[in-house]
Amino acid sequence: MRFVQFIETSQNEYLWVLETQNMGYAFVWNAHRLENVYWGAKLPYPADYLPRELPFDPLGNWNFARNTHEEFPAWGDYKFNEPCLKVRFGDGVRACLLDYRDATISENGAVTRLTIHLQDEHYPLRVRLIYDIYADYDLIVRRAEIENVGGEAVEIEQILSAAWHLPQRDAYQLTSLSGKWGGEFQLQRVELPRGKQIIERRRGSTGFDSNPFFALADGLAQEDDGEVWFGALAFSGNYKIVIERDAFEHINVSGGIHDFDFRWRLDAGETFVTPNFVAGYTAAGYGAASRALHAYELEHVVPRATARQPRPIVYNSWYVTEFDVSLENQEKAAELAAKMGVELFVMDDGWFGQRNTDRAGLGDWYVNRDKFPSGLAPLINRVNELGMEFGIWVEPEMVNPDSDLYRAHPDWVYHFPNRPLSTGRNQYVLNVARPDVQQFILDFMHDLLGNNNIKFIKWDMNRHFSEPGWMDAPEGRDRELWVRHTRGVYAIFRQLREAYPNVLFESCSGGGGRIDLGIMQYAEQFWMSDNTDPYDDLFIQEGFTLAHAPLTRMMWVTDTNWLNGRSYSLEFRFHLAMMGVLGMGADITRWSQADLDKAAELIALYKDIRETMQFGAFYRLRSPRESALSAFEFIHPSGREAVVTVFLSQSQFGYFSTNVRLAGLEPNTRYQVDGWDEPWSGQALMQRGLPIALKGAFISKLIRLARV
Ligand code: GLA
Repeated sequence: MRFVQFIETSQNEYLWVLETQNMGYAFVWNAHRLENVYWGAKLPYPADYLPRELPFDPLGNWNFARNTHEEFPAWGDYKFNEPCLKVRFGDGVRACLLDYRDATISENGAVTRLTIHLQDEHYPLRVRLIYDIYADYDLIVRRAEIENVGGEAVEIEQILSAAWHLPQRDAYQLTSLSGKWGGEFQLQRVELPRGKQIIERRRGSTGFDSNPFFALADGLAQEDDGEVWFGALAFSGNYKIVIERDAFEHINVSGGIHDFDFRWRLDAGETFVTPNFVAGYTAAGYGAASRALHAYELEHVVPRATARQPRPIVYNSWYVTEFDVSLENQEKAAELAAKMGVELFVMDDGWFGQRNTDRAGLGDWYVNRDKFPSGLAPLINRVNELGMEFGIWVEPEMVNPDSDLYRAHPDWVYHFPNRPLSTGRNQYVLNVARPDVQQFILDFMHDLLGNNNIKFIKWDMNRHFSEPGWMDAPEGRDRELWVRHTRGVYAIFRQLREAYPNVLFESCSGGGGRIDLGIMQYAEQFWMSDNTDPYDDLFIQEGFTLAHAPLTRMMWVTDTNWLNGRSYSLEFRFHLAMMGVLGMGADITRWSQADLDKAAELIALYKDIRETMQFGAFYRLRSPRESALSAFEFIHPSGREAVVTVFLSQSQFGYFSTNVRLAGLEPNTRYQVDGWDEPWSGQALMQRGLPIALKGAFISKLIRLARV
């Protein structure tokens, strides 16, 4: 097979070379261990991938306590890596020694799969390491499967998806994403120090505080240049990514399900499958790393049935009406939204149970008859008559203590007896690890989707887990909730998507609190942040797009920002919201006719460039972290069009003028720039740049370029 070479280097010693367009990745079975020997730029000859011994080992016998370069270190012998696997066998033995058995290679469309079969030397435990090679994107997607082929249960104490090993460089820069509610995805870049850096989550879901993404770059890598090793974990529950630089300058990254408070009972005949961990290498900087992930997400991760459908323009009244929704106020907004060109009207929180504030009603998924005396039908019909589809908000994994659901099923929430139970946003977390809770969610969702013409679900999740007790769990399984909750959510999504293939899903968690490649398999898009301030969003967007495609990013145009009181021109708000999937969340019933007209024009413009903004290749030309002017570029998949957005936060000492150098154009092709008499070549636009002059505060421009 083209992308995997298998070479027997000597008796009982084997080399596998995995190659993509630009990347090489190699490991050996050296009669003891499966050891990585290379990850980086592709090399010309197979022999290039084999390590060469040092003429002598300066540490000789004292050369202990180094980390091994193992692909999947199991814990239990004289090595001290972050283990990918730590188990306890039925007889109490806690050491696992893996021996090589076999390797198989298969081909499935664009993906080549290498499976390495390992088995414990003594106990009936099998491990399969799976490497899916995405040659076009320079990515490898790894996961592991652990199978108990014996008759006795095995306890898993730690199980990660993969360990990755990087070559030696003088210095590495670690980029990670961390943030908070209203300030998600802030990019952090530091020189990788000795020791372990941990990107982790222990609160039940992906979270704001960190995101399961890493990038390690050699020295001074830039947006458009330099070596970057990067990866993202496809899991929406507790995870950890451990980045270690040891005293021997060995750099490794291990990641998967968090071992914190985790145990898994693997019964006879059972298999545990880890989440996918995708990683890649590029010599062309952070931008290329992001584009590789974006392309992979578009082609292989986002729900397949709708992957190529342009995403509709949404209106959502949350910031206008909050819990005070009614047939009248929703209809009124819907009429104006339809006139502007909005395509999907979403009713947010407040439509069900006694949900008049966030203190009650969550869990009671029946229509509030005070607000909608004849149910949802009149509103949905009106929205449909206006030419729009209808969408609705739900938060299925949660319950208010003041709800019929909680009164009927107090045992359905995570809790410990004899301990107080904390609320977060006045709510408890339902134990979605339980099959009966999963069934309850499925039932009410079937009710909602089966009986109403609903084409969009905003699925929210608004608190962290605490007091995670599951007292009546099957024996030895109470700590499996950390994984079973997330798997339960995924299973519900799978069943709903199968039953309603035309319904779009948006993953929300108090804003961008559940955004990762795991949930991305089930939800078309993410609500990026509850903070709709377009200036703040420039920063959130920069971090978001490091790992996630613009197609998955939803942002609304709103009124004066409620967090900080700032106001912006309509253009500035629209230009920001257009960089992905456009939505509206403003009180349009109070807008002037001039603003309504202007918005209609901007929405028409968006429809015209939507394919480019949603499916195009994305370039971060200038970072908002570096100067008052930031700029971004989107290139249509066919190359026929490019759209550049420029944002100036503040001009000083007169106007701000610069040339924004474009990227990704065909050098010898000519491009007609909006408003120019004569086109320039791609090369001229990339070398000389687009001349920009702006003055004032919070000024933006959207510039279109058409291939001649
Ligand atoms: C969360 C979401 C908001 C909104 C509210 C409703 O905060 O992020 O967009 O849906 O819940 O309660």
